[in-house]
Amino acid sequence: MEKVTVPIFRERKGKEKLTMLTAYDYAFASIVDQAGIDSILVGDSVGNTMLGYPNTIPVSVEEMIHHTKAVNRGAQKALIVIDMPFMSYHESIEQARRNAGRMIKESGADAVKLEGGVRMKDVIKALVDIEIPVMGHIGLTPQSINRMGGYKVQGKGKEAEGLIEDAKAVEEAGAFSVVLECVPRKLAQEITEMISIPTIGIGAGPDCDGQVLVIHDLLGLLGGFRPKFVKKYLDMREQMDAAIKSYIEEVRSGTYPDDSHSFH
Ligand code: KIV
Repeated sequence: MEKVTVPIFRERKGKEKLTMLTAYDYAFASIVDQAGIDSILVGDSVGNTMLGYPNTIPVSVEEMIHHTKAVNRGAQKALIVIDMPFMSYHESIEQARRNAGRMIKESGADAVKLEGGVRMKDVIKALVDIEIPVMGHIGLTPQSINRMGGYKVQGKGKEAEGLIEDAKAVEEAGAFSVVLECVPRKLAQEITEMISIPTIGIGAGPDCDGQVLVIHDLLGLLGGFRPKFVKKYLDMREQMDAAIKSYIEEVRSGTYPDDSHSFH
């Protein structure tokens, strides 16, 4: 399989569904890449999944670069997208350009992702103008947690018009793709048909051009609340727990290591 570039990703709209998963380190990136994923998102969900923060707000540019460098070393073919963290593109166009440029140069990612529609149109355009490909992200935008007061489905009822405006703004600004998070199925389908760039859904139904999930959710790595849209393909936490308990038991009982694990 050839390396998935931004143009290849974009041209897949309407032809073949796009697949995207998060990864935050070398081992997971190499597994996901070799399995044939189209794109790896080094999401700022690294804050919740890997760093133990309560949400994505505290994640820094340095943390994003650190994790993406490792992902880049593990992945050869997938398109790598790095999330711009909260307050790394909100102050000014200059700040957004400086941070996006640094993140692309230092991490080896192919593109950045940032949250916001109409309000971020100028920022997206400014990055695209300096040759930095941008993936948009609208609907439920986790960096807006303090304003939203929780993670809720967006675009219901009268809010739908606003979300359509957001999607059009992201497209007009020159983004190559857009994530639709927690959006009613019908609205996601409407947006997908309305815009010319691929929509990548998460909690937005099956009619988007592609899907993204947080790998920890797909593998069942974290306990606790699981949103309705997540399909747990594996209970890895349970399997890891069993394996670790077996190791503890065998070391304590003296059955591991045995002679076959020893040098002579
Ligand atoms: O950070 C992330 O993992 C994301 C996905 C939920 C789309 O932005």
